Amino acid sequence: MSEVKKTGGLAGIVAGETKIATVGKEGVGLTYRGYTIEDLAANATFEEVAYLLIHGELPTQTQLDTYKKTLKALRGLPAPLKTVLEQVPKEAHPMDVLRTGCSALGTLEQETSGHDQVAIANRLLATSPSMLLYWFHFAKSGKRIETASNAPSIAAHFLEMLHGKPASDLHVRVMDVSLILYAEHEFNASTFTCRTIASTLADFYSAVTGGIGALRGPLHGGANEAAMELIEKFQTADEAEKALVQMLHDKKLIMGFGHRVYKKADPRSDIIKVWSKKLSDACGDNVLYPVSERVEAVMRREKGMFPNLDFYSASAYRFLGIPTPMFTPIFVISRISGWSAHIFEQRSNNRLIRPTAEYTGPQQRAVVPIGKR
Ligand code: ACO
Repeated sequence: MSEVKKTGGLAGIVAGETKIATVGKEGVGLTYRGYTIEDLAANATFEEVAYLLIHGELPTQTQLDTYKKTLKALRGLPAPLKTVLEQVPKEAHPMDVLRTGCSALGTLEQETSGHDQVAIANRLLATSPSMLLYWFHFAKSGKRIETASNAPSIAAHFLEMLHGKPASDLHVRVMDVSLILYAEHEFNASTFTCRTIASTLADFYSAVTGGIGALRGPLHGGANEAAMELIEKFQTADEAEKALVQMLHDKKLIMGFGHRVYKKADPRSDIIKVWSKKLSDACGDNVLYPVSERVEAVMRREKGMFPNLDFYSASAYRFLGIPTPMFTPIFVISRISGWSAHIFEQRSNNRLIRPTAEYTGPQQRAVVPIGKR
């Protein structure tokens, strides 16, 4: 039993091999296919990163142009999918919309040799922003938006559909960097879910639909929404500090802090923090960013804890005018690239994922007839 306790939540267990990413390796940090996250966030776009994850190498200019053209052409939604999305209640969480949308698309454009895993990965990358925002506008005001678009990137497409007009270069760049940061993270809970489902030889959509479900919880992707719900309560940094000290005294979890694998820092947090500050300066904010910085300082002082990617993503997304319930769905839009790479990798050298458990239930016993229980 003590061994099981030590490995609770499979912490520290090597559950397989991957060529896709390293997380928290000494002296290496976060890399996607050998490139550091700092290098990719500074020198690449999300489409280049998605191509890298899915195809194994960064694209040439010609390959990138073709890839972007392909993704652009896939943004439109089939009519039956629009009908399904129109049935989803406006009170639904947008993560449930994406989970439903992905599953429904799987019934309309099933995986076959003519519509293979690469085609589905492309289609899901291109349509996930469309599904989310088609439902959002329909649920909010009954408006049926056009999701086919000529916007030059997924980041620009998302912001344009959300706000109904093209976004500024700064906003598109921050969105793009955020998509790069969320794209891949080795054997996290949702990716492991995708791999487990893929290992049963189920179809691609089943694996991604399961991944969306795993990502939804506040201990994983849902933390960016929970972080926003915390920081937006405060009008000043002093107010935030007082409340946080009390929360820690009450042994509450502070969402957007801590990590299973990183022990000293989440390298993604430093990157998104810089962009959040740029957005804060650009819009003259003097509440949200100072509150966030104070929360970070208190967590370091009181708990020795550091922010993970979700913490400063929350303020960055708010500055981009994104409603809080869409924060985790953006994680989905990006992570489809990493999930896809992992499903391909699992399938290329598959063995059913099926661990065992240490039994801690009752000793063997006989069934007492129902009248005598
Ligand atoms: N706030 C306060 N205390 C914390 C936090 C936190 N965010 N995270 C961990 N702790 C404390 C725990 O209460 C525990 O204390 P204890 O030993 O006194 O019981 C100790 O630190 C160890 O925590 P565990 O939960 O055992 O760590 P684990 O590796 O299982 O969990 C996790 C990692 C889930 C990320 C955790 O840090 C957490 O719940 N953070 C908040 C949720 C969050 O931000 N999730 C996003 C993850 S990153 C991502 O998905 C992009």
